[in-house]
Amino acid sequence: MSDKELLLAQPRGFCAGVDRAIEIVERALQQFGAPIYVRHEIVHNAYVVADLRAKGAVFIEDLNEVPAGNTLVFSAHGVSKAVRAEADARGFSIFDATCPLVTKVHVEVAKMRKQGCEIIMIGHDGHPEVEGTMGQTEEGMYLVETVADVAKLQVAKPDQLAYVSQTTLSVDDTADIIAALKVKYPAIIEPKKGDICYATTNRQEAVKFMAPQVEVVIVVGSPNSSNSNRLREVAEKKGTPAFMVDNATQIKPEWLEGKLRVGVTAGASAPEVLVQAVIDRLKELGVRSVRPLEGVEENVTFPLPKGLDGGPKTAP
Ligand code: F3S
Repeated sequence: MSDKELLLAQPRGFCAGVDRAIEIVERALQQFGAPIYVRHEIVHNAYVVADLRAKGAVFIEDLNEVPAGNTLVFSAHGVSKAVRAEADARGFSIFDATCPLVTKVHVEVAKMRKQGCEIIMIGHDGHPEVEGTMGQTEEGMYLVETVADVAKLQVAKPDQLAYVSQTTLSVDDTADIIAALKVKYPAIIEPKKGDICYATTNRQEAVKFMAPQVEVVIVVGSPNSSNSNRLREVAEKKGTPAFMVDNATQIKPEWLEGKLRVGVTAGASAPEVLVQAVIDRLKELGVRSVRPLEGVEENVTFPLPKGLDGGPKTAP
């Protein structure tokens, strides 16, 4: 077996929104005891969800599954106004783990609708973040996923139009869609600062830097994680074969056959413990040295909601 070198992308793994969302469930469990109900997977990672489930979190999709009087956490992806109103009406004690950078997009939608604009959302149909953001208004929003969707789109008010995006998209694909929107609707209003979040952008940049230096890229992330899937695509667009694994057991030895340099990264919802297990497995498969790459140092943190930050619990 040939000696292989492993390059580690920087940054990789947990972002501030994921850190905060997991912390909210952990603290709720400590302060109020099990069960703590969580609407949707708190973040899209199988290991994280299984770990919290073992500690007493109960993941549900339908609020009917939550018995009266219980504590409910909204996942990092955010919820629609209808879900929020239903949860309020049922009197649950609610903690909102929506990432503040998703909430920022919700606020943009509300502001633009108030100004009379229709809104185009760039995002993936069926993703919970898209459902939550599109659900900030009852009407006047359109979803596009591709440049071809822009060509087909018919809006009611072409001169009073704004756009927003999902936070975890491909930076490059989204730039193409935005360019097409601007050609079709020259007066379209843009978000002040793009909606793709710092963590998504930084992880994609890190893969763009790493991929040309290696012969295969392994992305640690779950199949339903949007930003992890984008990392695999970014590597492939650089011409480097890339595979996504939920954990070390999914690595296929043939991916490494004849390869001397392997790159590893992790999506924003994938914990470092899984990355370390992947490194250990790759060492069994011939990796002799591990070299962390240079990259952006992140120091973003988000405060916890009131009632979970050590202070007294306020009324939900
Ligand atoms: Fe938030 Fe971006 Fe992470 S939107 S949850 S910081 S991937």
